[in-house]
Amino acid sequence: MPKAIDTAYVVYQVRDLDRMESFMHDFGLVTAQRGPDQLALRGAGPAPVIHVTRKGPDDRFIGAALQMASRADLDALAQLPGSSPVEPILDLPGGGFRVRTTTPDGIPIDGVWGQEPAQPLGLRDPNPFNAGTVKRRINASLRPKREPGLVLRLGHFVLHVSDHEATKAWFADRFGLLDSDYLCVPEDEARVMGTFVRFDCGEQPVDHHAMLILQADHLGVHHCSFEMQDIDAVFGAHDYLMEKGYRLECGVGRHLVGSQIFDYWRDPFDFRVEHYTDGDVANCHYQPVRYAVPADETTQWGMQPPRTFFE
Ligand SMILES: [Fe+2]
Repeated sequence: MPKAIDTAYVVYQVRDLDRMESFMHDFGLVTAQRGPDQLALRGAGPAPVIHVTRKGPDDRFIGAALQMASRADLDALAQLPGSSPVEPILDLPGGGFRVRTTTPDGIPIDGVWGQEPAQPLGLRDPNPFNAGTVKRRINASLRPKREPGLVLRLGHFVLHVSDHEATKAWFADRFGLLDSDYLCVPEDEARVMGTFVRFDCGEQPVDHHAMLILQADHLGVHHCSFEMQDIDAVFGAHDYLMEKGYRLECGVGRHLVGSQIFDYWRDPFDFRVEHYTDGDVANCHYQPVRYAVPADETTQWGMQPPRTFFE
């Protein structure tokens, strides 16, 4: 079975690349490549591209790409029904190779391998926190700023799908994803409506979820999410984005499933984008938990999501 080990990038189409680029710079991404018809953005980490926008007649989510563990895994993906042959990536920074696939709902998901890593950008070290019983900052002060927080990497994205079981099996067969936790119908714990899935990297801990696959009436993306260095980066960016007049959807708060400190914004085209930090990580030994809680109980502290968050 082919295996993926990380998220690679998400792809959107919008009418105005300049507006997307301007927002994303304020949100903490950096232009890696810009042409008249395509914008490729990166974070501070080594991934050469984590967010792609193509110019088109309407605004929509196009799909995403996952990084395969090896060339053999990419080749194995190419052998599966519905996969393209292996092809060079000629249109994105970092190059490499990809195999094109589409989910049962027709959402393009590519497997990629062999991208040239980018030179990491200067990201400040995590701020040392003085907890109640453990003091890490002695004879020193913190001076965080209200500034665009530099995004580190793409963490996860959430897909709305028409058949949760079929889509989950499709991803497991092609990318070796493991079930992390289940979202169940509150009145009926036996009925799973969403699964948080993670990469299988054996003993090595990975993000609690690379994706949430969620049963829904409307298809596409709910949000994509970018990791920040620490809580000061999330709150500093929050204040900066508020001052710039962008549309806050929900945040700051701490999720129940995955435990992330989150902050959700709408980009100029109404797509949700999330900053997060301090999420759970898990290795191959983690056993899934079933969460049968109402949507408004999925936030542990902080701003409760508005109704629009669940659309
Ligand atoms: Fe998220």
